[in-house]
Amino acid sequence: MKAEWSRRHVLGLEDLSADEITTILDEAARFKDLADRGEARHTLLKGVTVCNLFFEPSTRTKTSFNLAARRLGADTVDFAAAASSLSKGETFIDTARNIEAMGVDHMVVRHSTSGTPYILTQHLQTGVVNAGDGTHEHPTQGLLDLFTIREHRGTLEGLTVALVGDILHSRVARSNIWGLKKLGAKVIVCGPATLIPAEIHRLGVEVSYQLDDILERTDVINLLRIQFERQRGAFFPSIYEYAQFYGMTADRIRRAKKDVLILAPGPINRGVELTPEVADGPHSVILGQVTNGLFVRMATLHLMHQAREKHLASK
Ligand code: CP
Repeated sequence: MKAEWSRRHVLGLEDLSADEITTILDEAARFKDLADRGEARHTLLKGVTVCNLFFEPSTRTKTSFNLAARRLGADTVDFAAAASSLSKGETFIDTARNIEAMGVDHMVVRHSTSGTPYILTQHLQTGVVNAGDGTHEHPTQGLLDLFTIREHRGTLEGLTVALVGDILHSRVARSNIWGLKKLGAKVIVCGPATLIPAEIHRLGVEVSYQLDDILERTDVINLLRIQFERQRGAFFPSIYEYAQFYGMTADRIRRAKKDVLILAPGPINRGVELTPEVADGPHSVILGQVTNGLFVRMATLHLMHQAREKHLASK
């Protein structure tokens, strides 16, 4: 069902209904279909400015938001935090308000602190989209994961999807859990006990500490990176042991369902969460996820912009 879209901000999949998620996925599918037929560029956001504010490194998200905005006809600007006047003591909110004052319409925000995109919505009139905030959510990654699974399987309903790895520190895990559950998938979180939050079952997921126990009944396996940059202390003895117990190998692929889909949000660490032969093998849809990210971000920006236009017209 196509939901009436009214959101000027996209902060997390926890906030979105199943219909709203489906609306974004359908809109992304429409952009992908048009691109496949040679209509990759549009003027839907002509005259609009989108600013990327990334306070953490990014390859996929930042580049694809940039491309998505440009494919829609918008102007884009990248904010370089390290070279900005934040280093002279300007506050984060003052920085954002100064950027807004230059006529920016939408901000794409990545920050190490959970809740930062929400705080911006309380101080700015621009649209805000969360490009990953701390350990909270990474909604467009969740959406592109859903899109990729739906593209290959036709539906999320009734599938069993395993999220494997560092669930504790993963914003991708949280966005996946909300989105997958809302669209009718069963979710298993799997990893070392030290990397699985104690109360995670309250989100309606199954918990497993043994990848080998769930291989045979899982349709999709999403391999999450160990987030060393967010860890305080050691959560497992060594990378070698982690790879032994939780790494996806050719042997584990042989024991999985014959049509199992392998996803990873990237960046991938070859030899840790998966071997090169799995990453580049026939079950992997990892680069397809990246391709789909462009269309999901085009859909997100387009829907947000329509809502912003309506909001401004109603004032
Ligand atoms: N998956 C993802 O968010 O990748 P980047 O950190 O490269 O944006």
